[in-house]
Amino acid sequence: MPSEAAQEATPTTSEVTLRVLRYTPGKDEEPHFEEYAVPVDPMDRVLDALHYVKWHIDGSLGFRRSCAHGICGSDAMLINGRNRLACKVLIRELPSVINVEPIKGLPIHKDLIVDMDGFFASYKRVMPFLVNEQVPTDKERLQSPADREKFDDTTKCILCAACTTSCPIFWPDNSYIGPAAIVNAHRFIFDSRDTAAADRLEVLNGATGVWKCRTTFNCTNACPRDIDVTTAIQQVKRELIFNRI
Ligand code: SF4
Ligand code: F3S
Ligand code: FES
Repeated sequence: MPSEAAQEATPTTSEVTLRVLRYTPGKDEEPHFEEYAVPVDPMDRVLDALHYVKWHIDGSLGFRRSCAHGICGSDAMLINGRNRLACKVLIRELPSVINVEPIKGLPIHKDLIVDMDGFFASYKRVMPFLVNEQVPTDKERLQSPADREKFDDTTKCILCAACTTSCPIFWPDNSYIGPAAIVNAHRFIFDSRDTAAADRLEVLNGATGVWKCRTTFNCTNACPRDIDVTTAIQQVKRELIFNRI
């Protein structure tokens, strides 16, 4: 016989109203909300509710997802006004009416699917890979724990774009390289084994780089990996001011 605690934990199905911003270019004149009544269990996530709509109500609903466990970064969306990963938000944390919209500032392909080309173009500009032109030896390149610690936080990025698309500077001005690209530049600029920091800093010192940031902190608040994005941006600015310009 299950314990009292186990009985209390037994999920009970309830219903939420999912309001999803729908848009199909060429078919719809403009984005509009459509509402769906979705049966949910307490441990369901917003992603489960979206799956329910797609599989049982309207198969034409468009959204991205892959891992369903907060790793791939493909299902960032605006959930009740906050950029979050749909696979990490429990329905029970939300009110019974849930608004789901695409992340802001990028063109909508369809419904919750946005065009990520510009986002990844900015990412590529900062050379997000280790560069070291010294002749390799037969030993690994050693790094002290203190040096490794300098960029530990920024290694956690999953490129979900929640930070960049929550930035009010980015919304009207896609030329801003954005916090996600800066985080990924930081990851290599402060890596003692890398030799291309100056090239990345030159990109970030340009008109579309870090100086567009107005320290709004939306990016830090949006990051599902709890990366201190604004601090990383500040460290890049300080590196430019005190060491590189
Ligand atoms: Fe997503 Fe955080 Fe990386 Fe920005 S820094 S892309 S919010 S994981
Ligand atoms: Fe934007 Fe983050 Fe700077 S929200 S203004 S990049 S601190
Ligand atoms: Fe992969 Fe949510 S589906 S992070």
